Amino acid sequence: MKARILQLLQQSKQPVSGEYFSRQLGISRVAVWKHIRGMQAAGYEIQSTAKGYRLLAASDAPLPWVFGERSHKVHYFTELPSTMDKATELAHQGCENFSVVVTDHQIRGRGRLQRSWQSEQGGLYFTMVLRPRLDPGTAPLVNLAAAVDLARALTTLYPIDAKVKWPNDVLVGESKIAGILSQMASEADQVHFICLGIGINVNNHPPEISPPAVSVAQLTGAPGSRAQILSNFCDRFERRIRLGRLHEVVPQWKKNTLTLGRHVVIQTVRETVEGTAVDLDSRGGLMVEMADGELRTVLHGDCFHGIDPGDPDPTLF
Ligand code: BTN
Repeated sequence: MKARILQLLQQSKQPVSGEYFSRQLGISRVAVWKHIRGMQAAGYEIQSTAKGYRLLAASDAPLPWVFGERSHKVHYFTELPSTMDKATELAHQGCENFSVVVTDHQIRGRGRLQRSWQSEQGGLYFTMVLRPRLDPGTAPLVNLAAAVDLARALTTLYPIDAKVKWPNDVLVGESKIAGILSQMASEADQVHFICLGIGINVNNHPPEISPPAVSVAQLTGAPGSRAQILSNFCDRFERRIRLGRLHEVVPQWKKNTLTLGRHVVIQTVRETVEGTAVDLDSRGGLMVEMADGELRTVLHGDCFHGIDPGDPDPTLF
């Protein structure tokens, strides 16, 4: 009902009367008023005068009812320890493919490699539950696809040049705007589910150094909409996975990356690989040419972009 009220408010330049809503929606004027109060509490600025209701400003909150057909799959919380835990719980309970757990604030947000992910108000924090028919070896491509689609969502909605960094960060310039953490439940030859956790700096103030990070609001000078970013990403990513054309992501990733051609240092669980990132293989592995000319392909690890010739800054990103 709130989605319909929002639609009618957005369509009209004039104030919309309670009576008009009541006739269009088949509910009482008191019920209309209660929905409007709920929307105001959720951050919508709706003016109420003798002539009716007028929308002054929309909220950016990722509330389920703003997602149309997807709304029943969006689980919104004002606060959570981590969306990863809630999504894993829902996945074990059999939630639908492409269900999303989203929150305004995480108390114990997690990053890759046991790091924490600062999750203050204003950022977008969500985990999508995927049930793809894939063998576990293909899973890295899902992460690369998420990074590519996230970068595309951001560049479509805002005048920013978002690029991907191996394995699946999204950067603007050298600053991180979004990170992806994925956890998989699988057997030898079958994925049960993947929890794809994504944190995006939207209206929060991420730490500026070590590694450098930036938000949509800092880049554009205006607040971004968490709801729009989530909706845009979910639509393009779900379409891609449903079409089952996961391998197409490799050339797309290569076209949009900052990693290829760079000096990189990659930490894996076993070793550190250092050299020039020369290519991405069909499984999403990064091919690194080392100082002695040996070519090494790394499938999992943490990548630091190093110093390129002429770069005066010795910091590793
Ligand atoms: C990284 O770059 O290290 C990955 C960061 C992933 C953060 C997101 S925020 C939503 C989801 N919940 C978490 O606890 N972590 C992921």
